Amino acid sequence: MSVGRRIGALAAGLLLTSLLCPAEAQTTGSRIGLKNLARNRVSFFDRLGVAVPMDRLQNAGGIDPQLAPFVAAEYSMVSCENELKPAWIWTGPGSYDTAAADFLLGAPGRTGWARARGLAVRGHTVMYPRDQTFCNPRWLLDNESTITPAQARQYLRDYISFVVGRYRGKIKSWDVVNECIADGPNGNSFDLVDNFWLRKLGRDYLVLACQFAHEADPNAELYVNDYNVESSGRKADDQFALVQWLNSQRNLDNTPIRVGIGLQYHITLGETISPGDGHYAVVQRLADNGIPFQITELDVRIPVLDGPPGIFPANPADLVTQGERYREALTMAASFPNCRGFQTWGAYDGSSWISYFFGGQGAALPTDANYQPKAAYFAMQEVLGRPLSDGVYAVKPNADRTLALTAQGSGVRLARFETALPEQRWGLTWSAARGTYTLAPATPLGSRLGVDAPLLYPAASLQVRPADATSTQEFVVIPTPSGAFRLAPRNALTRTLSSPMLLSMPGIYNFDGAPGNFWQLAPL
Ligand code: XIL
Repeated sequence: MSVGRRIGALAAGLLLTSLLCPAEAQTTGSRIGLKNLARNRVSFFDRLGVAVPMDRLQNAGGIDPQLAPFVAAEYSMVSCENELKPAWIWTGPGSYDTAAADFLLGAPGRTGWARARGLAVRGHTVMYPRDQTFCNPRWLLDNESTITPAQARQYLRDYISFVVGRYRGKIKSWDVVNECIADGPNGNSFDLVDNFWLRKLGRDYLVLACQFAHEADPNAELYVNDYNVESSGRKADDQFALVQWLNSQRNLDNTPIRVGIGLQYHITLGETISPGDGHYAVVQRLADNGIPFQITELDVRIPVLDGPPGIFPANPADLVTQGERYREALTMAASFPNCRGFQTWGAYDGSSWISYFFGGQGAALPTDANYQPKAAYFAMQEVLGRPLSDGVYAVKPNADRTLALTAQGSGVRLARFETALPEQRWGLTWSAARGTYTLAPATPLGSRLGVDAPLLYPAASLQVRPADATSTQEFVVIPTPSGAFRLAPRNALTRTLSSPMLLSMPGIYNFDGAPGNFWQLAPL
């Protein structure tokens, strides 16, 4: 396309963008938001998740008016905390209660809460093979003595066909089985938990679950999810061996079974995560064997002063340490290409299972009981948004690295790159609180790269001017698999710093994937 036509198209595109989606293009508030940054990362694009109770998401009886807007703004994936579990849905033979799950996912042919807001859904869980009340359905256990193995197999197929089939195409990844491995060695293969299904069908119940789930939705990813498997040890070995065994079997359509591993990550402050340790060994072994994983239920509990819901930290300094744990977990996830998602178990400290299950502990989530971001939130924002460390860089168009972005008085142009030119040395400085970078040329001193406000073509040109407090000098640096970067103005993430190839004047255009949209950031 000629430059003239391209700019014409860009102008039309910009106008359309600003008319149709001002909310997408413009961000407000002092932080840039986890979802906006996750959208720039392949692994997390639609896989930065949160598990929440459906009655709160619906704001039933005015219980939690802030939850729905918060989830929609901050996350790209959502799970039912309880409402997709068999104990909830499977009320009797052939009898199902899907009202709560339908709210999120929509009844067949309908759009649910999640899709209407562009969020993906994670399914938790097809099977929860334990005999506790919130796991296997009560009616099944009550009738155990009269149920034959053949009948149990049929029940399993009926249920899985129903629930996975009902939401076929709407759930990208499902836990096919949750917490099937016992806490201590118990003699059977993989140390499987004794429960109704193991008693009726032996360990093959796990193969059947994979087969029936695949039959009901062949495109859904399946995960074997568990706790205390994050940092190596017997249970991690059991889970790995179980998944290897399942992956050696076949589906009913004769394709190989493919399951990945869900790592719950309900951890404490003491559980550091760093390269070379047991946590990295777990995911490295999965990478080496071509097995995908997700961090599915992250929370980091700390001692609290109050009883449930456990919202007041006993020692406020713990919040900083907690932030480090979140940083470490997300950093690990972001550095492994076989990571397929990252989810927290709860959106904010006002609604979390922790203090009900772990006495004296709570405040385990990235946002506090008033929906205010904690250190953990900013740590996550930093990992998602900060691909480069602070330093001095040459900013070169990816398509022609003999050129470089050059400050010229208050203007900016492309000029032949020369190491000695101070106006081609850009200091990149990260602001963790805002999730953005500023770019300051070594000369003119004290100046910054900025975008003309308002961000409407043709006025959105670049400028070098004294540092000010406006967001028009903030950029989001977006890494791409090729190693080049996009530089998007904070106020308009759909647009980008661009160097239309025949013009020496770079500017801000709609991102369209053209070569001129990408930059090399070379440390100097
Ligand atoms: C928990 C829910 O958060 C609680 O509301 C419910 O009372 C019990 O279950 N690991 C899991 C989740 O896989 O299903 C559990 O969810 C938390 C631990």
